[in-house]
This record gives sequence, structure tokens and C-alpha cells, in this order.
Amino acid sequence: MIVGVPKESIEGERRIAVVPSTVAKLITAGLEVLVERGAGAPASYPDHLYEEAGAGMSDGPGVLSSSDIVLKVRAPAPWRDGRHEADLLKEGATLICLLFPHECPDTIRRLRDRRITSLAMERMPRVTRAQSMDAMSSMSSIAGYKSVLIAADLLPKFFPMLMTAAGTITPAKVLVLGAGVAGLQAIASARRLGAVVEAFDVRPVVKEQVESLGAKFVDLDVDTEDAEDEGGYARDQSDDTQSAIRELLKQRVAKADAVITTALIPGKKAPVLVTADMVEGMRLGSVVVDLSAEQGGNCELSVAGRTVHHHGVSIAGPCNLPATMPVHASDMYSRNVSTYLLHLVEDGELKIEPDDPLATAPLVTRDGEILDEAPDPVVATEKPAGNDD
Ligand code: NAI
Repeated sequence: MIVGVPKESIEGERRIAVVPSTVAKLITAGLEVLVERGAGAPASYPDHLYEEAGAGMSDGPGVLSSSDIVLKVRAPAPWRDGRHEADLLKEGATLICLLFPHECPDTIRRLRDRRITSLAMERMPRVTRAQSMDAMSSMSSIAGYKSVLIAADLLPKFFPMLMTAAGTITPAKVLVLGAGVAGLQAIASARRLGAVVEAFDVRPVVKEQVESLGAKFVDLDVDTEDAEDEGGYARDQSDDTQSAIRELLKQRVAKADAVITTALIPGKKAPVLVTADMVEGMRLGSVVVDLSAEQGGNCELSVAGRTVHHHGVSIAGPCNLPATMPVHASDMYSRNVSTYLLHLVEDGELKIEPDDPLATAPLVTRDGEILDEAPDPVVATEKPAGNDD
């Protein structure tokens, strides 16, 4: 079976799905690897490294049309010559990528029409045995790290405490809202830079994780008991709870030099945690970095892909941060996607076992059909990882 690795065609996407060190692993497993010439260059992986690892090289349409399995980072998109990548795929092939089907219904119909088996990495169940295949965690971790660098760059102050001959500099105060994978990485990164960090999440279960990173958990007197679903994700809070949270957060936001927001509810618009009024209560020069800007924004004022300024406060809404760190983002994604592929391959054949949730949950199209109803992301018989192991 030929595994194809094309260059990502979406503008600004610098990641590649498979890095040279992964090529050897796939070849050892009995697969052939075909990489598009120049595909690794934006991630600092030149062609010769792929060739030395044993990959064949071709042009983009060659890779897409001759591969049995195509590994990508992003969903197929219109190709550089105007044709659509989905239409260039070999009929009946398998595609594995971060697909987000609801964002690209036209592409999904094209995949259906070419009878492509498409598997969405973002739908990987978050269970212990799938941890090494969890691309969402890998990418969130990068976003969390980068959010702190953006905040530190925009803030007209130091993050760490400094004792200098010119006086003592007090450390910056950072407030992280949402302490999932990105939020925890933001906390750790801000601490490493010397900031004083506090964090809030509707899931009280994360308190211990926040404290273990040297940050303070903001205990709001709000009942969010039922905040976590079976998969470890947050549940949507009622409008009343949401406005009570905002009211209680107001003072914390006003005291922060930088607020980093990462709160998300799967399948929903991001909850608004920082209103315009709250921004107006912040000190001049303060910063908000909103990692949820693309999902509607945790800050009422954030604009996806831009940094805006309001009452002397900078509000950044960065998009696709993993693409800004393409070496490690590609390394991590490559490990996730190849581990997943090797999980599906048996005796040189790709098998989608109907009783394997890791194979079925990510399915989006198969046998000329769109599987509209995504199966539950977490299987009741397997405990979510991350909480207790
Ligand atoms: P996410 O990206 O969906 O959400 C980010 C954070 O926002 C979550 O911690 C959520 O509780 C929080 N949030 C939502 N609404 C909020 C609000 N109104 N106010 C404050 N915070 C709010 O979640 P993520 O980071 O993808 O993962 C969430 C959990 O999933 C993890 O903490 C863990 O328990 C579980 N997980 C399991 C993994 C595994 O088993 N392989 C891997 C990664 C995560």
C-alpha cells in the first residue's frame, strides 16, 4: 500500500503530516511512502531527508492520485491549479487528517463522491490507549505555549520579577480562563517566564492540575457541579451561570496584566467570558489573548486573525498557532497520525474494525456515504485518560 504525503495547500499552513523520522517506521511496517517534492520545506524538512529515509518523491497530483492512503494535516482544499484536492484522490482511497467536516461540507460531498474513506483526527476518542494518537492535544499544547509568547510580546512590561540596580520590577499577573490542554500549557509557560498566574475553569476537577503547575485556582462561588461530561469535556452552562461567572471574574480581569482565554464547549460557540465592559476595566497596556477567537471568541471584542485595541488594551485573536511552530507541530502530528495509521493496518491491509471505536469514531465518509451522526467521542466502557492516569 502506498501512503501519500502531499504539501498542504491552505495558505499559511506550514506543517507537514509526516516527518522523515516517521517515514522509516511506516516502511518497516511494510508500507511504501510517497512524498510531494518540497512539501517538508516550510517545516524545515528538505526533500533529501525524505529520500534518505526511503520515501519516493512525486509532484502533488502524482501523490494524491496514486496513494492508497493519504495523510494530511488539513482538509483537502482547492489545489494550486484550481482543481480540488479531493477530486484528485484515487477513487476508494483513505484520507486521514484534521478534517472538521462541518467547516467544509463541499469537500465532504466530494470525498463521498470519490468513495473515499475519510477519518477525522479531531474525532479520536480521548481514552487512554488513544493518547499517542491525540492530535488535538498536541496542537492545543502548542497553541497554549504560543499564546503566552504573544501576551509577553504585546505587554509593555516584563513577565518575571527582576531585582535590578534600577529598582525592583514586580512580576506580571496572568489570568488563564479555561484550563484544558491549551490552558494548562499556557499556565506552565507563563510560570516559566516568571509571571504570577491564576486560572479558572468551569470543571472544578482541574483545580489540582492548576495548582500542581504553581498557579492559583480561582474558586468562584458558582455552582458548576455538572460541568464535566463523560468524555472530560465541559458542558454548556446556563445563561444565568455564565453571567454570574462573568460578574465574579470582573475583578480578576481588572487586576490582570494579561488574560489568556482558551474556553471551549465541543460543537458550540465559545462562551463569552470577557465582555467589552470588563476590558474597559483593565489597566492601560494590558493584554487579552483569545485562543477561541475562531470559535466565536471568549472575549466579546476579539477578531479572529487580528490584534485589535480597545481603551488601551490589546486584544489578540490568533488563528492556527500550530502552523507558526511547524517543526515541532509536524513532529507531534506525524507521531499521532502514524501511530493511528499503524493501529489500523494489519498484515499490510487497512482495516476498519466495526467494534473498534478508534477506527469508527473518526469516520466521516465511507462507501459513498456521509456518516452524518458522528458516534459518541468517548466509549462508556473506557475511562477518559488525563483525569486519573
Ligand atoms: P476544550 O478545548 O474543549 O476546552 C478548553 C477548556 O475550556 C476546558 O478545560 C473546559 O472545561 C473549559 N471551559 C469551557 N467552558 C468554560 C467556561 N464557561 N469558563 C471557563 N472554562 C470553560 O478542552 P480540551 O483542552 O481539549 O480537553 C478537556 C479535557 O479533556 C481535559 O482536561 C481532559 O480531562 C480531557 N482530555 C483527555 C485526553 C485523553 O484522554 N487522551 C487528552 C486531552 C484531554
